[in-house]
Amino acid sequence: MRERSLSGEHRRVTPELETLFSFLRFPSISTDSANTGDVRACAEWLISKLAGMGLATQLHETARHPVVIARNQHHAGRRTVLIYGHYDVQPVDPLALWSSKPFEPELRDGKIWARGATDNKGQMMAHVLGVEKTLRENHELPVNLIFLFEGEEEIGSPNLAPFLARHLAELKCDVIAISDTGMVAPGVPTLGYGLRGIACCEATLRGPKGDLHSGLFGGAVANPAAGIARLVSSLHSPDGRVNIEGFYDSVRPLEAWEREMWAKVPGVSDSDFLRITGSPGLFGEAGYTSAERTWARPTAEVNGIGGGYQGEGSKTVLPAEAFVKLSFRLVPDQSPAELMTLVKSHLERHCPPGLEIDVEIGHDGKPYVTDPHSKFGLAAQAALRSSFRAEPVLIREGGSIPIVQTFRDVLGVDTLLLGLALTDAQIHAPNENFPIANFEAGIRLNQALLLELAK
Ligand code: BES
Ligand code: MN
Repeated sequence: MRERSLSGEHRRVTPELETLFSFLRFPSISTDSANTGDVRACAEWLISKLAGMGLATQLHETARHPVVIARNQHHAGRRTVLIYGHYDVQPVDPLALWSSKPFEPELRDGKIWARGATDNKGQMMAHVLGVEKTLRENHELPVNLIFLFEGEEEIGSPNLAPFLARHLAELKCDVIAISDTGMVAPGVPTLGYGLRGIACCEATLRGPKGDLHSGLFGGAVANPAAGIARLVSSLHSPDGRVNIEGFYDSVRPLEAWEREMWAKVPGVSDSDFLRITGSPGLFGEAGYTSAERTWARPTAEVNGIGGGYQGEGSKTVLPAEAFVKLSFRLVPDQSPAELMTLVKSHLERHCPPGLEIDVEIGHDGKPYVTDPHSKFGLAAQAALRSSFRAEPVLIREGGSIPIVQTFRDVLGVDTLLLGLALTDAQIHAPNENFPIANFEAGIRLNQALLLELAK
């Protein structure tokens, strides 16, 4: 089959791309209960794909979305490699901003366009197809392999940690590999050796028992929406530092070698951040570059804010309540639970006079850092080097994959982060995309990785 791109170029849709397209067509949105059946159908499709490769498969029920496991025939004396990925995706709204339908994948400009194209279906399928290709070429793998695919990553993996604890013996392995992180620039192979942690909450300020006329009562009664603004402005000081007592107490400082190394990484200078984001300016903690701020420093972010009249024109109302959704990105050695205690007491102490506050704590995940120069880190670098024919860069990541530190806590195993996501992949946003070149390089990378990890 041939598909025409907007730019008029023609590309053959390879069997590998066909397989990825089938995977991308499932609207496996984990957060929306309307899609529960689609998530399951996607898991079942995966099972049949993996079984067709000759792997032994299992679909495990959880309280919400299924876990998919597949393994080859294991032999004593061989390394055991666990490869993790997630087959769930983020919601697609705002739908009007998509150039093509999110669950009808298309090829345009050398890229695959669909929800999940990069995060994580495209990267995950590169693992699967790298393994399939090795099996086809060699009839066996050089390692004992365990595929572990979950359908709840985008909602904080609530059922995966208990699943690990229940299946300790079956999941015993030497090393874990994941392609669900970033690549600093096209053609620059990137090994991640850290992830930020996360802690989420929502604060609601309540005032009068119902919405009031702002002329009759404004000036006499505290306004919850104005209170939210005051609460939010208490979170940062003008120099960009987070102004919560104790916030930085357990932050492990950046090491000199990392700062030196990162200064040479292409694609992540302050001007790159301006170009990539289209923001008119940068703002963050004084004394750090943008890469350092996002990879190795903790932050407080407002993800959503609301209350009062949102419609056209004006409405003179004093709203009864207003809310803010906050998330905090954490770095080693901060603990999400301890941090949330500090946050909650900060918010309660800063509740403006005349209002009541309610803080609801959301999901969280621990930060992670490992040594990129360990035996397995060097193997990952070798695989990246040979499959991209370029020298890999070593970075930490600003994003979070909470299960990675849980893997270390529960299974005692470290994770290699072999990122294939470009900065303009639009993950979690309209027009998510994945270059065909990254998909193909990802397949080669996985073949090389199995060989390097077997050594
Ligand atoms: N794959 C991303 C995380 C990511 C992307 C890390 C790019 C580094 C570079 C993952 O699917 C994700 O979005 N995680 C969430 C965390 C979750 C608890 C909602 C995140 O980071 O917000
Ligand atoms: Mn994601």
